[in-house]
Amino acid sequence: MFSRAALAAASLQLLAQASFASAAALENSTACVDVHFMIARGSTAAYPGFPWDVFSSVAENMTATTNYEDIIYPATNETATDSYFVGRTNAGAQINAYAQACPDSKIVVGSYSQGALIVGDALAGGGGQEYLGNATDPLVSVANGQKIIANIFFGNPRHVPYETYDVGENPWNATGKYPRLQYQIDNFDSRYSNITQDWCNYGDGVCSVAFPDSLSLHTAYDSLYLDDAAEWTLHKIGAHAHANATDA
Ligand SMILES: *[C@@H]1O[C@H](CO)[C@@H](O)[C@H](O)[C@H]1NC(C)=O
Ligand SMILES: *[C@@H]1O[C@H](CO)[C@@H](O)[C@H](O)[C@H]1NC(C)=O
Ligand SMILES: *[C@@H]1O[C@H](CO)[C@@H](O)[C@H](O)[C@H]1NC(C)=O
Ligand SMILES: *[C@@H]1O[C@H](CO)[C@@H](O)[C@H](O)[C@H]1NC(C)=O
Ligand SMILES: *[C@@H]1O[C@H](CO)[C@@H](O)[C@H](O)[C@H]1NC(C)=O
Ligand SMILES: *[C@@H]1O[C@H](CO)[C@@H](O)[C@H](O)[C@H]1NC(C)=O
Ligand SMILES: *[C@@H]1O[C@H](CO)[C@@H](O)[C@H](O)[C@H]1NC(C)=O
Repeated sequence: MFSRAALAAASLQLLAQASFASAAALENSTACVDVHFMIARGSTAAYPGFPWDVFSSVAENMTATTNYEDIIYPATNETATDSYFVGRTNAGAQINAYAQACPDSKIVVGSYSQGALIVGDALAGGGGQEYLGNATDPLVSVANGQKIIANIFFGNPRHVPYETYDVGENPWNATGKYPRLQYQIDNFDSRYSNITQDWCNYGDGVCSVAFPDSLSLHTAYDSLYLDDAAEWTLHKIGAHAHANATDA
């Protein structure tokens, strides 16, 4: 029924698919590897959430060892449940725990929407806004934070305009739903400004209160920026790990 050549071609294709799949598979694990990705999904999303797509693309182009970890939290309505408080605590605890357990590893963090809120607040200090409780100090220590070599926010409720790391469509005149307080900006900027991208579309009602009903702008980051975000991440990792891309 099949020629020998067709069978050979078919099995080569299977081999190629198998090796592609194994290069692409980003294992859910906290084992120590060269580069550990940590992902915080947005409200109501299933684990791992779309930043996984970005990091999966990055990992495909790396020779260094990689895996990923979900920030564990409910991702339910932050104004009506304890999701924000649980998430902020866990983001801080998980980043600190991995940094302590794996001193030779580098960490890359990606977060979307409420995920960006909890990660940013674990890094910079949180609260200080209606629904978010009293203002708090950063949960991730300075030393542990230095293990983070790239950090990406998408549709960040804490978005602040005119930061050097703002990217997207006109992100420099957009202000998020819960803009960071000045001490939080100072903490964030002094520790993470050089390793962050904060993707915001002007008019995304979460990172930019300008047109709060533009939900489509809040859900467009994957399709609009996956490649740019992956290339930037690879570039940041490049200095610390063996990546295929040279100077993307
Ligand atoms: C990854 O592992 C954690 C911890 O075991 C688990 O809670 C989470 O659901 C897993 N994520 C996926 C996408 O399976
Ligand atoms: C990156 O390099 C590794 C090891 O050389 C290789 O297996 C992998 O296919 C490369 N990825 C791409 C996208 O070129
Ligand atoms: C979240 O809860 C608030 C009440 O605290 C409610 O006004 C809002 O509509 C809820 N959001 C969603 C998306 O359900
Ligand atoms: C917030 O701060 C106020 C004033 O210091 C204090 O009374 C209150 O207990 C704090 N609330 C929480 C949840 O820590
Ligand atoms: C912000 O950017 C939007 C989109 O380009 C524009 O319509 C608006 O006028 C700008 N607002 C300010 C204050 O610059
Ligand atoms: C950011 O990078 C610049 C240029 O490499 C460096 O001078 C500066 O100290 C860095 N800032 C932080 C906060 O690491
Ligand atoms: C990674 O490799 C894939 C497959 O070769 C390629 O399509 C993609 O553009 C690469 N991504 C980056 C960020 O280099």
